[in-house]
Amino acid sequence: MTDKNVEETSEAQIAVHWGEEKYYYPSYEFVAQANMSDPKIYERFALKNFPNCYKEFADLLDWDEYWTEILDTSDAPCWKWFVGGRINASYNCIDRHLAKNKNKTAIHFVPEPLEEKTEHITYQELYVRVNEFAALLRDFAGLKKGDRVTLHMPMIAELPIAMLACARLGVIHSQVFGGFSGQACADRIIDSASRVLITADSYYRNGTLIDHKQNADIACGIAAKEGQNVDKVLVWQRYPGKQSSPTPMVDGRDFFVNDVLKEYYGARIDPVSMKAEDPLFLMYTSGTTGKPKGCQHSTGGYLAYVAGTSKYVQDIHPEDVYWCMADIGWITGHSYIVYGPLSLGASSVVYEGVPTFPDGGRAWRIAQDLDVNIFHTAPTLIRALRKVAPDEPAKYNFNFKHMTTVGEPIEPEVWRWYYDVVGKGKAAIVDTWWQTETGGFLCSTLPGINPMKPGSAGPAVPGIHPIIFDEEGNELPAGSGKAGNICIQNPWPGSFQTIWGNRDRYVETYYARYNKNPESKDWRDWPYLAGDAAVQAEDGYYRILGRIDDVINVSGHRLGTKEIESAALTVMEVAEAAVVPVAHEIKGKEPDLYIALKPGYESSPEFAEKISAAVCEQIGKIAKPRNVWIVSDMPKTRSGKIMRRVLGAISNSTDVGDVMTLANPEIVEEIKAMVG
Ligand code: WTA
Repeated sequence: MTDKNVEETSEAQIAVHWGEEKYYYPSYEFVAQANMSDPKIYERFALKNFPNCYKEFADLLDWDEYWTEILDTSDAPCWKWFVGGRINASYNCIDRHLAKNKNKTAIHFVPEPLEEKTEHITYQELYVRVNEFAALLRDFAGLKKGDRVTLHMPMIAELPIAMLACARLGVIHSQVFGGFSGQACADRIIDSASRVLITADSYYRNGTLIDHKQNADIACGIAAKEGQNVDKVLVWQRYPGKQSSPTPMVDGRDFFVNDVLKEYYGARIDPVSMKAEDPLFLMYTSGTTGKPKGCQHSTGGYLAYVAGTSKYVQDIHPEDVYWCMADIGWITGHSYIVYGPLSLGASSVVYEGVPTFPDGGRAWRIAQDLDVNIFHTAPTLIRALRKVAPDEPAKYNFNFKHMTTVGEPIEPEVWRWYYDVVGKGKAAIVDTWWQTETGGFLCSTLPGINPMKPGSAGPAVPGIHPIIFDEEGNELPAGSGKAGNICIQNPWPGSFQTIWGNRDRYVETYYARYNKNPESKDWRDWPYLAGDAAVQAEDGYYRILGRIDDVINVSGHRLGTKEIESAALTVMEVAEAAVVPVAHEIKGKEPDLYIALKPGYESSPEFAEKISAAVCEQIGKIAKPRNVWIVSDMPKTRSGKIMRRVLGAISNSTDVGDVMTLANPEIVEEIKAMVG
């Protein structure tokens, strides 16, 4: 058991400094065109109308066979939605738009290099490419319904194409964030038992053509050692027909997609009719132990939920140009770059590179050139753009009607810059709180109905009924001023179904905490524990304060402290490792790594360097510690547990509190002096 209070205490302290903010109201212009401006929606989705209210979301989709039972709770808490229904996600995101909109852009792909032109892929073109690639997956790679395939792809149009091709066949895709290491990719290949890896040879990032193919070799090597053989690696070339990566192809295993695809030109694949509850994809996320959790998302429920929330929270109309500047390798990209927008027939922007390349005006030029009117990003990026190029947005002629923030709490000051400068005082903003596990939004204002309040996610979205519990399970009501564990009282269709291959961990992590009867088949007995601390204001708006477990949110990316610590421990000389989150102006949080070496080794900059490199190699650069502090000993409780709370306070220059109960209180001063 780790010190669960660490994050809670520190995050709650941050919250105390945040006063209540004033409301901002959406413009009449926005409300007049909004998909949802009728407050009665909250009534329709009230708890008394649960679960039948979700028929409204299901009816946004085309079903091969309409469902017969809306919610089956017989395997609680593994919920089944829209039982009896049959549906295909690729059909809903592509085929059904062809009759009226085949000529419309589905994906605007913007390459990072300035001299390369944007590619506008129409729905018809998407249909052709997805069919051809699906044929290749089926007939060349031998994939069939229910198989898992790992994708380790950068932000290129071929990523959504590959996902939709899998969906067409009922193959379960598991996309690993492109910036993750070969090792991280291997872990996910092994856990999902994938025998096919889809990757790319290279991609641009910050002006450099990155060799990505090398990660595939590392991943396959590690996976093979663990008994999971990858027999085919499908490599998309950044420039078809041209070698862009120095890493050689492995004979008989690696294939350039563009070579093989020629065999499948013109192929058409009937979408495989899936049960609503068949899995659509896995998305791995960090948890409290070193092993990432494969969140398993359903086909019908998930798609209905992302379609519904894209329509009412993102306010996506078919004529909109929608740009979510996240990576498809995260849940945000799955739900709100690919499945949500495309199921509604919108045009979705996929940008390859860094938003500040080659300068701080790039994002705004893209927005101007594509006439983007809905913009979606994370606080970390807003902070970065505000810092490096605060005056750039004003120089360009783009007009957002709507903007989203997601992934972390946004400071009111940063929110106001986003509103005034990026939104030009006109765009409605939604601060959307949700998680990889939840598939779609949990809390957010409905932009055509509720006023915005900087720093607050807003009320729950229609159909979601949160409740905040204290440690004892007492409800902390609105306006109590107390933070507690936010839970959701009811299931919802976007929720993950289980952790891949580990139902016990699913129940234990998300449902055991406040469940009173493990035998119960009644959803009312199974509040979902989100793992975040939150406080509900008098007006019902929720403010999310951060993780209660030991997950560090770096630039909106969740990293398990345990993952980082275990990476550090792969360095032979390391005895103990402890990671704590440090507040960072841009990234939100950064990991600070404390290390105790094994006896007989002396601290040196080389060791620190080596440990930092090990973390980057095992997880990815995103996890690079702010600092590696090599200490002579860790502050410990008498029972020998490392007191991360104390280290966290030192790293953040806050009060370490009472340390006299420690086994070794004297170490605190020593570490303090070192960290300064
Ligand atoms: C945090 C990202 C405050 C939260 C969609 C959650 C937020 C974790 C917000 C999930 C927000 C996400 N305000 N905190 N609007 N959105 N979080 O799985 O701690 O990558 O539990 O999903 O990010 O991160 P994940």
